[in-house]
Amino acid sequence: MPAVGASLPRKDALDKLKGVAKYIDDYNFSDILHVVTVRSQHAYGRLINIDKTEAEKMPGVAGVITASQIPGVNAVPLVFNDEPFLAEGFVRFHGEPVALVAAETLEQAQAAAALVKIEVEPLKPVLSIRESLAADAPRIYKENNTFSHFRVAKGNAEEAMKTAAHVFEQEYETPYQEHAYLETNGVIAVPGLEDSMTVYGSMQCPYYVHDAVVAAAGISKNKARVIQTTTGGGFGGKEDFPSVIAGQATAVAKIFNRPAKLIYKREEDIIASSKRHPGLIKMKVGTDEKGKIVAAIIDYYVDGGAYATLTPIVLWRGTVHALGPYECENIHVNSYGVATNKVPCGAYRGFGSPQVIFAGESLIDEIAVALNIDPLEIRRTNGYKLGSKTATGQLLDQSCGLMETIEKAGERSQWASKWQKPAERQGNIRRGIGISSVYYGVGLGAGGKHLDRVGTSMTIMKDGSVHCAIGNVEMGQGARTVLAQIAADALGAPFELVNVVETDTSMVPDSGPTVASRTTFMSGNSLMLAAAELRPRLLQVAAKMLDAASIADVDLIDGKAFLKNQPDKKQIGFKELAEQLYVCRLMPSAFGWFVAPDSSYDNETGQGNAYFVYSYSTNIAEVEVDMETGEYKVVRITSAHDMGKAINPQQVEGQIEGGTLQGLGYATMEEIRHDGNGRMLNNAFATYILPTTEDTPEIDPIIVEHPYDRGPYGAKGFGEVPLMGIAPAISNAIYNATGVRIRKLPVKPEKILGLED
Ligand code: MTE
Repeated sequence: MPAVGASLPRKDALDKLKGVAKYIDDYNFSDILHVVTVRSQHAYGRLINIDKTEAEKMPGVAGVITASQIPGVNAVPLVFNDEPFLAEGFVRFHGEPVALVAAETLEQAQAAAALVKIEVEPLKPVLSIRESLAADAPRIYKENNTFSHFRVAKGNAEEAMKTAAHVFEQEYETPYQEHAYLETNGVIAVPGLEDSMTVYGSMQCPYYVHDAVVAAAGISKNKARVIQTTTGGGFGGKEDFPSVIAGQATAVAKIFNRPAKLIYKREEDIIASSKRHPGLIKMKVGTDEKGKIVAAIIDYYVDGGAYATLTPIVLWRGTVHALGPYECENIHVNSYGVATNKVPCGAYRGFGSPQVIFAGESLIDEIAVALNIDPLEIRRTNGYKLGSKTATGQLLDQSCGLMETIEKAGERSQWASKWQKPAERQGNIRRGIGISSVYYGVGLGAGGKHLDRVGTSMTIMKDGSVHCAIGNVEMGQGARTVLAQIAADALGAPFELVNVVETDTSMVPDSGPTVASRTTFMSGNSLMLAAAELRPRLLQVAAKMLDAASIADVDLIDGKAFLKNQPDKKQIGFKELAEQLYVCRLMPSAFGWFVAPDSSYDNETGQGNAYFVYSYSTNIAEVEVDMETGEYKVVRITSAHDMGKAINPQQVEGQIEGGTLQGLGYATMEEIRHDGNGRMLNNAFATYILPTTEDTPEIDPIIVEHPYDRGPYGAKGFGEVPLMGIAPAISNAIYNATGVRIRKLPVKPEKILGLED
């Protein structure tokens, strides 16, 4: 039985289920200091003075650390390196870290933190995209308050728009989204001998954290080590932020030469850690008489917050994907990452795509309604097929399963019999059905191709067990299990004997981030490279033990070696093979280093092969609306995905279910509110409302497999995709039930009744 394609149990399930998995707060070290953050109470202002006298007199306090004391550089290494570990000169958002109190106990640190006095000369904050772009806006970032700008230019969109039979123009807005991972951010920095520093923590990008530790401590890379502990969810939120607190804890640990523990409470995690960018999308689309898209002009703005952090790359992905999976010869996209005095935004599952997907998939629905076309049919007409070219001019020459996702989702949801025009729906409780289709470039693409490489070290132990160290992480998505399946089949080992361990930067060189749904593809391929080196050595041993003339005469499958022409004659188990590997003194380890297939992007035109491959999906949502109160329920979601090959179908279904629920939250209830001074008002789960099991609709996951020839066993990557198209599918279903079009998420009863914009 091959492991790939089987719904094998998760390697990490039992420990998590039993509650014995160790998360960062479960760790302790002797002589540890507890660290508490003192934050800005202003959204924008000049930092005049920090008085720590009273705080430092408090019992148990080792000291209060401010920016000037950071031993290395006071800048978090990311894209522009513009965010300080601790504010210096200015505070730029409410909740920004200004000082760190280190004490013997957490309670002592908290008590002292309340006594640190921060003097600020307040300045008028900029609190929204529109405010930031206004001609008279305060200049809070360079000369135009814009972190970055990208464009895509193909054909002549202005001219084509003039000759289009129909032109549609709309504006859409999308809100913040908080990751709400179960485990908040946390790290422990432990100073070692000879100026070394080891940082343990909950994270999804240990190599970014490694950079931050090196920067904050001012040490060389070979003195820093980052060990990822069991991570209770990341969803993009632990891409950039762990670098901030790892740098801070490192500074404390280095200054006092003691371990330093910095664990966030939920409230401060919500206030200070990154979120999904709010978006403003202006779309103009021209079609021919039959609804075929002939021109598109799109302006896309995201609210980046106070520092650039990941905004440039989040924006780039959204720019490239702005129109969705539709053919169009004349397209012009301009995008802007805008600075405001609010928490810096970063990665969240979908990475700049869900905003434009909501806009694009809403507008195409509006076009279908206006032209009297079935919304599923308009996607069939315009959607990518083999041979289509993307907005950046890339030829889709393989693994394009969009049409099959549309057909399968349509069939399974019984779209044809359920869809009818809103005007035909009767009664107070009305049902509606809506559809969305999306595509997603797997991996970092041309925008981040310099980081798109991954390493793996694989060792066959003397007892036949296999140890794999990887450069991507497990954060709940099932990577350790799926990668063990790939490694097992590639090597010929039984799945049970393969262990993929949590990531440690000292085991594998910098392998880039765990984002962009790249793990299965990238780490899977690097494991296959390592296995390809080790397997011939195992076959060499097997050939000797089976008296075969050459290794070409033997095979090794699922832990058993045998003669190809006499498979039943004699079989050698994997443990025996491993033992002999050592007896024969053959090298039992191998290293895999995989570099992503090429991609390209021209900064001037935005043309090029933006990603090496794309995944596709179609969602169909069914809702039930009470026309009197505006309250509604999402009843059912049918979700079809082409991920190339489902390495573990049950994990795929789990990802579809989890992502769907996060998408449902984004669509229906999640939003962050600020007061007029930029203070976040809902920084707790009592006020930031999330979907629960009670809100979970019936979810029907559908696997569609269009293998990619460079993927491990054909797999592409799809961890983010299940969230991405849910919001427009629900919003389109609401329109279908009620005739009310919502262009600003979340879809709330007040909006359906016309009481709120
Ligand atoms: N699923 C769980 N349970 N927890 C997570 O943190 N992160 C998502 C997605 N699914 C996440 C998850 C995000 S943001 C990404 S990029 C992918 O998993 C990463 O996984 P992959 O690279 O293995 O696809």
